[in-house]
Amino acid sequence: MSLLQIEELHVQIGTQPILRGVELQVPAGQRLALIGPNGAGKSTLFHAITGLAMAQRGRISLDGQSLLGLSTHQIVRRGVGRSFQISQLFASLTVADHLRLACLSALGYHGGRGSGLLHRLTRLGDVRERVQSQLQALELDDVADTPAGQLPYARQRMLELGLALAVDPRLLLLDEPTAGMSRSETTDFVRRIDALARGRTLVLVEHDMPVVFDLADQVAVLHEGRVLICASAQEVQTHEEVRRLYLSRREATC
Ligand SMILES: Nc1ncnc2c1ncn2[C@@H]1O[C@H](COP(=O)(O)OP(=O)(O)O)[C@@H](O)[C@H]1O
Ligand SMILES: [Mg+2]
Repeated sequence: MSLLQIEELHVQIGTQPILRGVELQVPAGQRLALIGPNGAGKSTLFHAITGLAMAQRGRISLDGQSLLGLSTHQIVRRGVGRSFQISQLFASLTVADHLRLACLSALGYHGGRGSGLLHRLTRLGDVRERVQSQLQALELDDVADTPAGQLPYARQRMLELGLALAVDPRLLLLDEPTAGMSRSETTDFVRRIDALARGRTLVLVEHDMPVVFDLADQVAVLHEGRVLICASAQEVQTHEEVRRLYLSRREATC
């Protein structure tokens, strides 16, 4: 069974249909790149999976359990971590504080269970350890006490990747993680994603074809609210309709 299963998914924003029958199956451990022109509905699909956009019809399930109707908080608890296309950081909050908050939330510190003082202190110890190991894994330990707003852009994106990973997700959704980076920053970032996504199922919205080739086992093309093809990167590149759509778009903008 697929870890993520999406069937006949319809999402509209206002009166505008955005997703019009999306079908997508992502087996556990697979790395899938989701590509498609701007406005195709890629971010909306991530919003729908994470409870931020409401489905009018269809099904979304994780490991056989429906995610529809759950709050974002509940979906995160089921093991879904995501990063956003637009930065979600607090400019004046330090790197370590961002990770601390994300870890506290992931450990259920604010939840009703185990609210005794001893329990909370044990948890604080867990948080310290997790933050420290995350800082190292993200190669952000030298800027732990720097406000996020003062970090170079690529390191801000790295912090956002860390926030998505704080829940130790089974399914990691990354929305254009390398957009706006230089080639060398991209190469470095892809190396980090590759290491940090190991053992997880990854869905990645990405326009940069070298990144897609480096990271993805499969590529799905979203076009006009539907998945046109889901296949290997090689197959997608030679697919007649994909070529026609992308070529006609390029010619139209020349
Ligand atoms: N909050 C919103 N209000 C109105 N329209 C929106 C909103 N979010 C997205 N859209 C529209 O939905 C379509 C799909 O957007 P999006 O999912 O962001 O596409 P992609 O990520 O593939 O570029 C676009 O036409 C966009 O204008
Ligand atoms: Mg988008």
